[in-house]
Amino acid sequence: MAKSTFYVTTPIYYPNDKLHIGHSYVTVAADAIARYKRLRGYDVMFLTGTDEHGQKIQNRAIEAGKDVMAFLDEIIAWSQDLWARLDVTYDDFIRTTQERHKKVVEAIFERLIEQDDVYLGDYEGWYCTPCESFWSQRELVDGNCPDCGRPVKYVKEESYFFRMSKYVDRLLAYYDEHPEFIQPESRKHEMINNFIKPGLQDLCVSRTSFDWGIHVRRDPKHVVYVWLDALTNYITAIGYGSDDPALQEKFEKFWPADLQLVGKDIVRFHVIYWPIILMALGLPLPKRVYGHGFFLMKDGKMSKSKGNVIDPKLLIDRYGSDAIRYFLLREIPFGQDGVFTPEAMVQRLNFDLANDFGNLIHRTAAMLNRFCAGTVTRPTGAALTNAEAALAQLAKETVQETERQLEVLQFSLALTAIWRLVAQANKYIDDTAPWGLNKSGNTERLNAVMYTLVDTIRVISVLVQPFMPKAANRVFEQYGFTVEETDWNTLTEPGKLSAKKHVAEGTPLFPRLDVNDEVTELAQLTQLEDGGLKTALPSADPAKPEAAATAAGGPVEAVKEQAAREGKEVIGIDTFDQVELRVGQVLTAERVEKADKLLRLEIDLGSEVRQIVSGIAKYFDPPSVLVGRKVVVVANLKPVKLRGVDSNGMILAASEGDELTLVTVPESMPNGAVVK
Ligand code: MSP
Repeated sequence: MAKSTFYVTTPIYYPNDKLHIGHSYVTVAADAIARYKRLRGYDVMFLTGTDEHGQKIQNRAIEAGKDVMAFLDEIIAWSQDLWARLDVTYDDFIRTTQERHKKVVEAIFERLIEQDDVYLGDYEGWYCTPCESFWSQRELVDGNCPDCGRPVKYVKEESYFFRMSKYVDRLLAYYDEHPEFIQPESRKHEMINNFIKPGLQDLCVSRTSFDWGIHVRRDPKHVVYVWLDALTNYITAIGYGSDDPALQEKFEKFWPADLQLVGKDIVRFHVIYWPIILMALGLPLPKRVYGHGFFLMKDGKMSKSKGNVIDPKLLIDRYGSDAIRYFLLREIPFGQDGVFTPEAMVQRLNFDLANDFGNLIHRTAAMLNRFCAGTVTRPTGAALTNAEAALAQLAKETVQETERQLEVLQFSLALTAIWRLVAQANKYIDDTAPWGLNKSGNTERLNAVMYTLVDTIRVISVLVQPFMPKAANRVFEQYGFTVEETDWNTLTEPGKLSAKKHVAEGTPLFPRLDVNDEVTELAQLTQLEDGGLKTALPSADPAKPEAAATAAGGPVEAVKEQAAREGKEVIGIDTFDQVELRVGQVLTAERVEKADKLLRLEIDLGSEVRQIVSGIAKYFDPPSVLVGRKVVVVANLKPVKLRGVDSNGMILAASEGDELTLVTVPESMPNGAVVK
């Protein structure tokens, strides 16, 4: 019988700069899933690649004084070397400058024009060159680009447009019929409320102001504009539109993709524009698009311009690929944002890898060699106690839990489950004290304990394979585990571990680190002495005007002083961006029993009704005066209990002395709308 297939993709990265730890995050996540599915017997296709067209890339090559293709080749070689060093096992690497992609995009464009899905019109609006994005007047923030804050320019040019609105109803119906399509669930509401409900604009799909791209066949002054070119990589790479029967077969085999991993910044393109393009081409939609969160620095988003990016090669050289892969997938629940700090990384490596996992492997092998000449012997039934049965039961549950968590991409929870087993195995050593059994000559019991430990290590090393392939292989070699013994699908079958195997003494898998020294060293290496804070502020380069303001105690100093007076740090826009503010409407308001100051409010946030407890009772008497009021809610605040009542958020109010006013918005603003 043919194997089941599994097609997983990462975004294709812009090669305008070297990739950083954030890009490594999603690629390692995709690799862990690809490896896991292969271990489960799937025929896996794992695609990554680079998005090589557009003005930004052309400009970067010109700045570097290089031919565009030569410039790209260098970055691509660097990126592929990064993936090799991180043990990323992609099956194909697509470059949008490859002929296999270009000729199919040209044909797709022609077809879309013929079908009248794409038409020629005029584009008028604001354009941000660094972001390569068009914005409407309404979207600008203080006249600048809402994404990067830089100035935009007004442009009017002939462009081709995609009739997106034509497909909106079908798209919404698809969302309804396939609740698993957009994950995590919260991103779906965001898409519907922020982009679809306000009315989906037709998408500009060509430009005439630059020429580094795929030209429209019938109208070559037009270059296919980024998203139509970029998104289609997922089908061109596996043979869509090819004349070669083998490739056509490959496309039939793998499409629709099972899982498309994308950063939350590009979810919109993947769950609105991409499905619509596929509908227009009459193709099925991907089964799952997962919008993961971001790895941030203390001063917000990583970016070359802030100078706070971390070079992953530097970390791999110092700690090894397994350690970096482990840290990336362990530290932050997939789907949420998290902050990278050297302290957190060093602690994880030290405690989880050196102390817990590495030590279990090392001490077990050492004891086996000291007490049993390195040989594992199958125990007799009489020597087994409840402790062995309990560990075997936990091992079985851990396999199931790891599978469950990997299916829903909760890497950190899968690792938490595996480390629970690691901890239990270490505790089992302490409880059974094999050194005592050796001393007292209780060979039967000693064999039982050592066999149980080796069997548990077998399970653990198989489970860590998707995350830390090198360490897993080292354990397999050291412990002499065979292919049969390390088959994930029969992992917990009884008697799997063969008797009489020889275990080598080995060396520790992960070195123990001195946390303080290492953090200092790492800060110097990454040049983030102050956790990246300094780079959030204007450069101290006297050639740049804002530096003068800083030096002379100008506006930046004033902001810092004001913040310091209030006991707060100056934050970057990215830190502020982490606060999710939404419009809500009060549905009910009542006093909380035995709490004079508290009101219990039920607030409609568009996609859900939230209960919030607020200390504003004395300002609103009776509380019912609040019903119907539009308020601004901090929607991503950690839930708390106030006087035993759950509170899931906070409403904003201004207060001075005895006066308090709720921050409000006009009636016309829909519930759930984002406040920025
Ligand atoms: N080229 C487009 C994607 C086209 S896909 C058809 C693009 N490229 S990108 O290089 O700017 O970023 C790609 C992805 O890198 C993001 O969506 C995200 O998955 C990942 N990340 C970039 N920075 C990141 C972090 N700091 N943290 C986590 N992921 C990050 O957008």
